[in-house]
Amino acid sequence: MSARSLHQLLRDKRVLVLCGAGGVGKTTTAAALGVAAARAGRRVLVLTIDPARRLAEAMGLPESGPEPTTVPPERLFADGPRGTGRLDVWMLDPRLVFDRMIHRLAPSPEAARAIVEHRVYRFLSDLVAGVQEYAATEALDGFLADERYELIVLDTPPSRHALDFLDAPGRLSRFLDERVVSLFGPESSSRGGRLWQGAQALVGRVLDGVFGAGHAREMRTFVGAFSGLFGGIRLHTERLRARLASPDAAFLLVTSPESAALREAAFFRDTLVERGLPFAGYVLNRSWAREDALAHPEALLEHVSDDPHAEHGVAALSRLAATERARAESHRTLLVRLAEQLPTGAVAVAAPDAGAELEEFGGLVRLGDALAPG
Ligand SMILES: Nc1ncnc2c1ncn2[C@@H]1O[C@H](COP(=O)(O)OP(=O)(O)O)[C@@H](O)[C@H]1O
Ligand SMILES: [Mg+2]
Repeated sequence: MSARSLHQLLRDKRVLVLCGAGGVGKTTTAAALGVAAARAGRRVLVLTIDPARRLAEAMGLPESGPEPTTVPPERLFADGPRGTGRLDVWMLDPRLVFDRMIHRLAPSPEAARAIVEHRVYRFLSDLVAGVQEYAATEALDGFLADERYELIVLDTPPSRHALDFLDAPGRLSRFLDERVVSLFGPESSSRGGRLWQGAQALVGRVLDGVFGAGHAREMRTFVGAFSGLFGGIRLHTERLRARLASPDAAFLLVTSPESAALREAAFFRDTLVERGLPFAGYVLNRSWAREDALAHPEALLEHVSDDPHAEHGVAALSRLAATERARAESHRTLLVRLAEQLPTGAVAVAAPDAGAELEEFGGLVRLGDALAPG
């Protein structure tokens, strides 16, 4: 399947994943694209992570809730007739998502409650690396089964390594699977040799010291119950991977024009391609590449009389304008270069710097229109 524009992606895909280095504008772009798709008539869910306060306010998003929030149609369609599209936004709460996962996987509601209410669980779920990333994929898996949404736009977390997101499910199940965890688990004579049992006994003593005797045993019971869920986790991880590798999904790389972000984006693209995930193109965010008609201030001179002050002012403006034009030119070149490296069907789109406009919903609408003109 090929796409010539972001507009087509928004119309045809089931999942759109926004990736990129920290701070390049993933969350903002996810919101703007969600707005554009909903205005174009689709039922959209934006799964967002840690949106800037002004963005949350512009979208009317509560701090964090147990359910997605619907953007009121009068806000979504403030400037025209009300369409059939719909926009829901949900800010991920990793803890909440994690709890739900336990409820889904546990053999009974009582077992789930026992795990979630266990103080060791609180401790463990903070400890596990990548809980936030994992929560994102977990939430995505849940919503994909939800008929309410035709398109899910997934914002990805501010990872130190942009790839953490893709690796999180694997990492989590590895963590849970590893012998490290079984060290904490119920003692078993069938596993390991004497050395292993010795190690377990040592961990037991350390835990006794840290948590007090009794609590260590509690911890072991807990991990024992928790480990029963591994199979379920792995199963759904595989299903999700398959969904993300299918033509239903599209990965967009957001980058700023800065070279560090561009390098990271190129690396990310290679990784996506390597893993057989559908790389759909670049968003060159906060760039001046679109402004191809910057005026020459000299043109003003025709309208001012021979006032020396005015001439002086225009000369200063000219220098400034020349810098701006050079920047616009270099961003345009950059966009062309990005476009040259694309696989068939992928897109390279520039998004302007929206400045303070993003404080209002209208700013998001304009950003969405700039990204995906209908
Ligand atoms: N196109 C844009 N125009 C103006 N400001 C932007 C734009 N994109 C992002 N920003 C701002 O940059 C900051 C980081 O953006 P954000 O979307 O949170 O990045 P990320 O999710 O990649 O960390 C925020 O303050 C956001 O408002
Ligand atoms: Mg973000």
